[in-house]
Amino acid sequence: MNTVTNVRLTTAVKSNASLYKQVEDAFSILSALDLVNHINVINRKKLTIRQLFQRDTTPLIVFESSGPKLYFTAETPIYFHLDTVKVKLQLMKQNKQPVLVEMVDYIAKDLPSFNFVDGTMGFGRDSYLILKTFKQATIYAIEQHPLIHYVISEGMKRYLDEETYKRIHFINDDYNKWVKRHPEVVDLLYLDKMFERTLDENDRMGELSKMTGTNQEIVSVSDYKYLIVKAHYKSQTFKNLKVTQCIRKSTKTHYGLKINHKRLGHQYSAKLK
Ligand SMILES: C[S@@+](CC[C@H](N)C(=O)[O-])C[C@H]1O[C@@H](n2cnc3c(N)ncnc32)[C@H](O)[C@@H]1O
Repeated sequence: MNTVTNVRLTTAVKSNASLYKQVEDAFSILSALDLVNHINVINRKKLTIRQLFQRDTTPLIVFESSGPKLYFTAETPIYFHLDTVKVKLQLMKQNKQPVLVEMVDYIAKDLPSFNFVDGTMGFGRDSYLILKTFKQATIYAIEQHPLIHYVISEGMKRYLDEETYKRIHFINDDYNKWVKRHPEVVDLLYLDKMFERTLDENDRMGELSKMTGTNQEIVSVSDYKYLIVKAHYKSQTFKNLKVTQCIRKSTKTHYGLKINHKRLGHQYSAKLK
């Protein structure tokens, strides 16, 4: 599902030349997208976000010094934030590996380089985690929604040095279509259909799920060497994608791994020896 949308752009109330420039840049980038219909640049004056939504409910991107924030409603902005990734990176220093890192490590620890295709970028936290943890990984972070893709990629850039930034490609597309067009790139495909709720950001994840739809049909994919799926433990996703669900009793978030032996050929046999 590719979403066509209109958008409004504005700055923080306390604006400056750099924020105006970011609005201009966003205008030219978003204008070039087929999925963005009409862009309206608005003068913020002293208006609150709530006031900006009173007569017009078109999605709004606000450029602030901390990065762009996307509002679908006046309440809850969507933007790149390190929140849970920071906690995970801290825990890793105490040798407590997040499940996703453990799984990727199992697959890729002996590989000099590999491509990690995140088919469902969302807030970009999993892409960021893999990018930071595996220096030999190139990340392809795919997000179907053009505005989410824009604010998260622009937001994440601010946290990356030049070298790390070269290892991540942000793509606005439906992963099903992209993966079919670039099968040779896809070593590891990661799909996260789960709109999990965490303590400090119930609202943002809720907002993302409302705006991107949780009930999309899962289309079967085959263009990968390894597939990792994250979903709610009751989700049909594991069954639909024929992925072995790894049962974790203490949590509702489950992961599944599938190995595509046809694509791996002799490489897989070598790994098993
Ligand atoms: C649960 S969120 C992913 C959260 C993400 N793993 C993170 O670390 O923040 C799912 C995201 O996948 C996107 N999405 C769903 N189906 C997609 C598809 N077919 N192609 C690309 N993106 C998709 C949704 O728009 C949403 O932003």
